[in-house]
Amino acid sequence: MDKLLITGGGTLQGEVRVAGAKNAALPVLIAALLTDQTLRIRNIPHLRDITTTLELLGHLGVSVQVDEKLEIEVNAADLASRCAPYELVKTMRASILVLGPLLARFGQAEVSLPGGCAIGSRPVDLHLKALEKMGAEVSVEAGYIKARVPGGRLCGARIIFDMVTVTGTENLLMAAVLAQGRTVLENAAREPEVVDLARCLVNMGARIQGAGLDTIEIEGVDALSGAEHTVIPDRIEAGTYLVAAAATGGRLRLRGISNGLLDAVIAKLDEAGAAVMVGEQEILLDMTHKRPRAVNVRTAPFPGFPTDMQAQFLLLNAIAEGTATVTESIFENRFMHVQELQRMGADIDLKGNTAIIRGVPHLSAAQVMATDLRASACLVLAGLVAQGQTVVDRIYHIDRGYDCIEEKLAQCGADICRVSDGSQRRLAAVR
Ligand code: UD1
Repeated sequence: MDKLLITGGGTLQGEVRVAGAKNAALPVLIAALLTDQTLRIRNIPHLRDITTTLELLGHLGVSVQVDEKLEIEVNAADLASRCAPYELVKTMRASILVLGPLLARFGQAEVSLPGGCAIGSRPVDLHLKALEKMGAEVSVEAGYIKARVPGGRLCGARIIFDMVTVTGTENLLMAAVLAQGRTVLENAAREPEVVDLARCLVNMGARIQGAGLDTIEIEGVDALSGAEHTVIPDRIEAGTYLVAAAATGGRLRLRGISNGLLDAVIAKLDEAGAAVMVGEQEILLDMTHKRPRAVNVRTAPFPGFPTDMQAQFLLLNAIAEGTATVTESIFENRFMHVQELQRMGADIDLKGNTAIIRGVPHLSAAQVMATDLRASACLVLAGLVAQGQTVVDRIYHIDRGYDCIEEKLAQCGADICRVSDGSQRRLAAVR
């Protein structure tokens, strides 16, 4: 199993090019199931979740062609299966996104029920309730969601989500574009990744209004065509590098990030004392030789502060001047990184869904274990600021969502390398 070895204490200086957004690329790839024509997608990040999605599409019988620039052509003219198996769903919960498009185009789908995960129970009940409202019959048998549409075609409906759900909104958006009549999604997610999916669907011929607002209206059409689409930049990857620079007292230019994706995060970095300049396609952060100030954070659906940046801000507060609270209001049990940070000398108390963090001047290096995607990013940042050599284990989590993280950090001066168990044993033998 691979590990990251990080020797902390340096500052990050340099430039990072932001990759395409994982959470936008996944639904856009899956949207190819809605048509028998070819969808050509650009700016796909090089990630394990993308490989899993391509494997899932391949399992369904979709033809996938990847060129050397990692542009992908997906064609779902002939499907061999309508079933997303447990082996793939268990490694990537977003596999549930095939349910809406398969039901919409073929009137039938089976998806393994995603189990619990490291950041809480994360049910998909809202997806299922909404699809039932559109006329699907849904049952759960032997761990699989089995859904069919008796009349063959879903019917438009008014759906009010009990909670804001990102993949729930995306699943229903993809179900509604081919349904009979009009669908209204209320309390819909407003995340930029939902807007990006809607933009791709509109290019394919869908009729959608209001994406980016909390009410989305969709007028179903009989068929969709192929299209070309460029995925938006990854705001969470971008935010993670900004925090890395702020925590190490560095200076970083992010290239390829659009305006408006990161406002809540930038406002908090500003409050922490960073000078942040936002241009058309770039962000410059300067924190040279400064220690961050503690900042309170409460996660919320977009445009609020993203839960996917919570762990990174917890780390920033751990070495900041002052005391702050970080409240997680989206997911239960999303503080698995706290124990690992405590082992590195962080002073953090957990009270329910709030962490109280008293900043300390230094963390000390330790051997730590990644538990989920964003928690592992937080541990890498902790390694960058800690004194000594930190070993981050189980980094397969980080490979799910960060494109070439060690190369990008090393380019900015970080002392970081990846080792596999075998190579570590060889190193020890040489020493
Ligand atoms: C997506 C993102 C993830 C991000 C999250 C919140 C993708 C692939 N993943 O996850 O990175 O952290 O949004 O911004 O885009 N819920 C229910 N029932 C449901 C659906 C959701 O109770 O049927 C609850 C969840 O348990 C959670 C909350 O709603 O407490 C929000 O979850 P949701 O927005 O659905 O998260 P994901 O779409 O899984």
